[in-house]
Amino acid sequence: MTTTTLLHLDSSTGAGDSVSRALTARFAAAWRARHGTAGRHRHRDLAADPVPVVRAAYESLGRRAGARGALPPDAVAALVEGAGEEREWALTRPLVEELRAADTLLLGAPMYNFTVSAGLKAWIDRVTFPGVLHDPGTGEALLRDTRVVVVATRGGGYGPGTPREHCDFQVPYLRAHFGNLGVAAENLHVVVAELTRAADDPALAGLRPLAARSLADAGARLDALAAAG
Ligand SMILES: Cc1cc2nc3c(=O)[nH]c(=O)nc-3n(C[C@H](O)[C@H](O)[C@H](O)COP(=O)(O)O)c2cc1C
Repeated sequence: MTTTTLLHLDSSTGAGDSVSRALTARFAAAWRARHGTAGRHRHRDLAADPVPVVRAAYESLGRRAGARGALPPDAVAALVEGAGEEREWALTRPLVEELRAADTLLLGAPMYNFTVSAGLKAWIDRVTFPGVLHDPGTGEALLRDTRVVVVATRGGGYGPGTPREHCDFQVPYLRAHFGNLGVAAENLHVVVAELTRAADDPALAGLRPLAARSLADAGARLDALAAAG
């Protein structure tokens, strides 16, 4: 039996009322139902159990590793010098290996101050360690065939032609980042549920129908993605 792995990350600080958590949970449930015992579902909560931000020793080790081009985690371990780098690599390596092992990466990514949450950014900084996401033999991106499903939520509206379109540093950032990591364009799926604050912000009350449609569309897209792989 061929197994397949879903790495499911949530980064919203919201609990019961988090839209991204509800949507990623919906995708994960459908994915588990589809794959049964062949599916391995790994969940990581970057808000409740935050990844420490990178420190100076991460950078010193990263620079020495990066100078060698693509390299496997074992080769990075052999480059570690001193307690600081040991600590940084011990924090980084499990996250890198978890990502390398994932067939599907599911990311709950709320907008905080026009971009992603600090919790998600800390994870991105750690896993994007120089050289370890490329094949040492071919130089090819290891994430090329990884399916990435981003669930992007935000309180306001940032669609084409809206007054705040230019303030969206969430979706364009995530697209640029995963594209830069080598994820193939056809494997990168960004599902947006916006105007989530319309439910409780009187200034957005008139936009409630649009918010409801955005949420329904996001759910339907996630159901289709879960059914497809
Ligand atoms: C710290 C913080 C900053 C936020 N900044 C923005 C923002 O810049 N733009 C926006 O549209 N909504 C902003 N929001 C609202 C959230 O994007 C919105 O509540 C979204 O639904 C959060 O995702 P969640 O429902 O998955 O928790 C912010 C919320 C928080 C807690």
